[in-house]
Amino acid sequence: MKFSIAMLPGDGVGPEVVAESVKVLEAVGKGFGHEFRLLHGQIGGVAIDQHGVALTKDTLKMCKRCHAVLLGAVGGPKWDDPLAKVRPEDGLMALRKELRLFANLRPVKVFPMLVDSTTLKPEIIRGVDMVVVRELTGGLYFGKPKKRWQTTKGRRAVDSMLYSEKEIERILRVGFELAMGRRRKLVSVDKANVLESSRLWRQVATEVATDYPEVELEHMLVDACAMRLIQRPTYFDVLVTENMFGDILTDEASMLAGSMGMLPSASLAAVPKPGVRAFGLYEPIHGSAPKRAGQNMANPVATILSCAMMLRYSFGLEKEAQIVEKAVVSALEAGYRTYDIMDEASVRVGTNEMGDLITKNIRA
Ligand code: IPM
Ligand code: MG
Repeated sequence: MKFSIAMLPGDGVGPEVVAESVKVLEAVGKGFGHEFRLLHGQIGGVAIDQHGVALTKDTLKMCKRCHAVLLGAVGGPKWDDPLAKVRPEDGLMALRKELRLFANLRPVKVFPMLVDSTTLKPEIIRGVDMVVVRELTGGLYFGKPKKRWQTTKGRRAVDSMLYSEKEIERILRVGFELAMGRRRKLVSVDKANVLESSRLWRQVATEVATDYPEVELEHMLVDACAMRLIQRPTYFDVLVTENMFGDILTDEASMLAGSMGMLPSASLAAVPKPGVRAFGLYEPIHGSAPKRAGQNMANPVATILSCAMMLRYSFGLEKEAQIVEKAVVSALEAGYRTYDIMDEASVRVGTNEMGDLITKNIRA
């Protein structure tokens, strides 16, 4: 089959980790007879430097013409001025909104060979395997009013946690659909004891649940959830939550896996169901890591696993996705580690070598 992919490497280590994914995609293409047409564009700081904006209209158009987008990372100290008119992150926000990527999937899986490389006790994190579904185009990030103004009593600012029942319903469906393919347990995270938008969220969640009688739905307050995530992370299968809650909880959850360099993500424009090919943007959870840039250090695993998610959700290539995931596991089982997951018993490799080792394991 033929697929086109918009490649947006972005800033910092982005170009390095995306380059390793290109090797993986080429190997999958060759091994399984698919054609991946790669189109290249800029996003973030590099786009600001060249065009004055973090995402040009042409790049956005190119993304819309493709079946999926692969993004590296955006941002860096060079563009960090709080008074700057344009920010690298604006490009990402615009992409999410313009491409209607409402469903952000962030799987957190602890690989058995890495249980000792986290800051948490091995017995707590062994067996962790969850997916956080974060609503990505509404809530506190995008709700209006959103502004700052001057009053006679001083400056004021407002952000709004606004949700329509349609927005809540479609993200809940993502949670339920994923839970159906997993352990059938969905935790819907809110702050219904305080927030009106959360009370609507909870009500809609309960209504949607009637369409999925096989799935056990539990409502959990976001503060309790933050606690439970580090106290007993194996408790969770699928979580679904509002944009900002999801942002915070996924940084917390990512630490269970030891390194952000291990965690992929998908942002989809449709509810993923068996047989549905959703348009999506795929990116590692980690940022641009400017201090590591250009040193062949960054862990390419998160981006390569993001490619596996692309094969699964946007191209419907489940078998190929699993082969990429197994290729990653084999490289780790063979004892190869990038700096972020290094331990005494392992062999340290760079971005390039890790990419090559994984690519070598991809065979039809
Ligand atoms: C994330 C990031 C972004 C967000 C930033 C870079 C704007 O933290 O994807 O989690 O807040 O959504
Ligand atoms: Mg975040």
